[in-house]
Amino acid sequence: MQQRTNHQLSEYSLKTDRCASILGTGSYLPEYIMTNAKLESMVDTTDEWIRTRTGIRERRIAAAHETTSDMAAAAAAAALKNASISAEEVSMIICATVTPDMFFPSTACFVQSKIGALHAVCFDVSAACSGFLYAMEIARQFIASGQQKIILVLGADKLSTIVNWKDRNTCVLFGDGAGAALLGHREGSGGILATSMGSNGSLANILYTPGGGSAAPTTSENVDQKLATIHMNGRETYKHAVKAMVDSSEKVLAQAGLTINDITCIIPHQANLRIIEAIADRLHVPLNLFHLNLDRYGNTSAAAVAIALHEAAQTKNFRPGDLILLVVFGGGLTWAASIVQW
Ligand code: UT7
Repeated sequence: MQQRTNHQLSEYSLKTDRCASILGTGSYLPEYIMTNAKLESMVDTTDEWIRTRTGIRERRIAAAHETTSDMAAAAAAAALKNASISAEEVSMIICATVTPDMFFPSTACFVQSKIGALHAVCFDVSAACSGFLYAMEIARQFIASGQQKIILVLGADKLSTIVNWKDRNTCVLFGDGAGAALLGHREGSGGILATSMGSNGSLANILYTPGGGSAAPTTSENVDQKLATIHMNGRETYKHAVKAMVDSSEKVLAQAGLTINDITCIIPHQANLRIIEAIADRLHVPLNLFHLNLDRYGNTSAAAVAIALHEAAQTKNFRPGDLILLVVFGGGLTWAASIVQW
């Protein structure tokens, strides 16, 4: 990998007043491991089909009493410890989730109370699997403008509560978990160099939960129709996922004045190994440039890239100056890519 000097780095850093760096990361995965073998006993599927079509071997499922905010608070506590920052120093909490504890208050507010972040402003972001990068970009803007000092960004989802466990097309894909990153200004690091985001609401109905909201509130009559569970057109979603993640990766690289050869590690949304292989192919990079964990956790929605970021930070021995490309895709449709200088 090409080594960059500080001078070179400054040429393509965003011209913000204060860059936003990752000060620490954390994650939480529930204890219970649901294997493909277990799913074989629940729906008409096989371990072989799931492994070869998705790359997933097992996923974590949260306990009935364990909420999205419980998982997010555990990930947050790990990130605070990792960064040696106290909860009182956190000035904002942004939680990306599509499985909030409740419609309101926000899951971020519950996390605030659970970790004792007394001085934080708290709100949630809804961008499905893209939520963590959307939240990171919001945090970056607040830090760049000098409005906020230390922001806790969370991606947390308990998808097991919105999965139709009788639908083999979807139930084999998803898992529960949470990831966290603390963002703040750090001298000598470019932090988040560039972000590219996009949405296409006209394709909302290829990946969505049609019921349970104001459009189709849950009633005793429609509960059997499972409207409040994930409905997905897999093939269409697959196609758009590959295109959007390739396009946004190329866009964000151009924005930062970089090429893919400058990147130390790519951390993608963990939905399907075949999607990631297709992206690797189109970006002309080897698969081992990607940090992968979907074999162990499946698709954990907003948490996926956050958990993978934490894992990569723990295991890949990133050095200052290393350039990390994060790229996501999800319901909305939504997508985003960010480049972080470690
Ligand atoms: O996080 C948001 C983003 N989500 C995604 O990115 C998901 C994107 N989509 C995908 O990953 C893939 O489309 C799936 C993994 C969901 C499906 O893979 P596929 O290769 O596109 O399969 P398919 O939907 O075209 O289905 C192929 C066959 C069908 O049978 P027939 O009609 O060919 O007889 C399905 O009924 O596989 C069948 N099938 C299954 N068979 C065994 C679907 N799900 C299963 C299953 N076990 N779990």
